[in-house]
Amino acid sequence: MKMISRLQAGVLLIIVAARFLPVTAQINLALHGTVAQETTYTLSGSDSSYDATVAIEGPANNNWEDGCSSTGYQAKTWWGLFLPRLAYITNVKAYYRKDEAHRMNDFRLYFANGSVYHKTELCFRDTGKQAQSNLNQSIDCNLSPTRNIYYFNRNTFVELCYIEINGCWKGFWGENCTVPCPHNCIDQHCHPANGSCIWGCDPSKCLQGCFVSTGICSGGCVLGQAGQYCNKYNLAYNQTANIFPLASIFQFLISDLVGPPMSYYVNENPQSKDG
Ligand SMILES: *[C@@H]1O[C@H](CO)[C@@H](O)[C@H](O)[C@H]1NC(C)=O
Ligand SMILES: *[C@@H]1O[C@H](CO)[C@@H](O)[C@H](O)[C@H]1NC(C)=O
Ligand SMILES: *[C@@H]1O[C@H](CO)[C@@H](O)[C@H](O)[C@H]1NC(C)=O
Ligand SMILES: *[C@@H]1O[C@H](CO)[C@@H](O)[C@H](O)[C@H]1NC(C)=O
Ligand SMILES: *[C@@H]1O[C@H](CO)[C@@H](O)[C@H](O)[C@H]1NC(C)=O
Repeated sequence: MKMISRLQAGVLLIIVAARFLPVTAQINLALHGTVAQETTYTLSGSDSSYDATVAIEGPANNNWEDGCSSTGYQAKTWWGLFLPRLAYITNVKAYYRKDEAHRMNDFRLYFANGSVYHKTELCFRDTGKQAQSNLNQSIDCNLSPTRNIYYFNRNTFVELCYIEINGCWKGFWGENCTVPCPHNCIDQHCHPANGSCIWGCDPSKCLQGCFVSTGICSGGCVLGQAGQYCNKYNLAYNQTANIFPLASIFQFLISDLVGPPMSYYVNENPQSKDG
């Protein structure tokens, strides 16, 4: 028995320590959404496909013969990834076609919840015709969570031999984006690499902010909230302590994930059972 509890304490320590190690890998979101492009290039007499999906299939190289997506030549053109829910994108890795590298010059990488022509945030713009000398490009972004991401350009083709779009679903972090963000992060939103509340702490719970790496409130809770994360209701506050839920008489602190105190009831008529 003693052995087991020691072991558990050890495991707990490891988990706590791991919490502070930077985790760089996130998931390739490109494999968890759908892709499309403004138009698709076609070559008469060829069986080859230049669909938007070719860009996420690999291989990760710069060879047109091994498969690249391509839009048609357009005045305005885009390749886009559409996600089923909001994601926080930290990095994009792209491999461009080496034999026509100049075509990607001047491209823009946009985030948008809707179309690329409406309310976008710019993650990157190729200036000075650098794309042709950056055939394997890694771009870091630090924008709002988004549903869609676009490679956009004018008067050319958008051609991607391979693309990886890394990040996590909003509200999760870690190697596989499976760890929920701390409760106290504003909007329960944290950095996908380390779980930090980098957008701040929820002022409706913490009195004076929280430690960004853990979400533990640094200066106590607002009145009525309790626990290190201030995400529990303090039933002793405001004279509600006499209203005990029947099933958990010893539970003074109820997580707000379970529901506010109004969901608990008072046994107003205890005699009814006895007849
Ligand atoms: C880009 O990546 C491919 C595939 O790994 C590699 O063969 C090529 O040398 C790289 N190009 C540059 C400019 O690093
Ligand atoms: C997408 O919508 C979310 C939720 O409304 C918002 O926080 C975010 O800023 C939007 N992202 C972009 C890129 O506009
Ligand atoms: C992430 O997923 C991979 C592949 O499924 C798995 O091998 C790895 O252990 C997972 N890592 C964590 C921290 O869950
Ligand atoms: C987590 O990563 C972000 C982005 O790199 C950084 O701003 C923040 O300081 C990191 N937090 C911790 C606790 O390391
Ligand atoms: C305390 O209880 C009173 C009466 O039910 C209510 O009007 C008031 O809003 C409560 N105060 C807080 C801070 O919850």
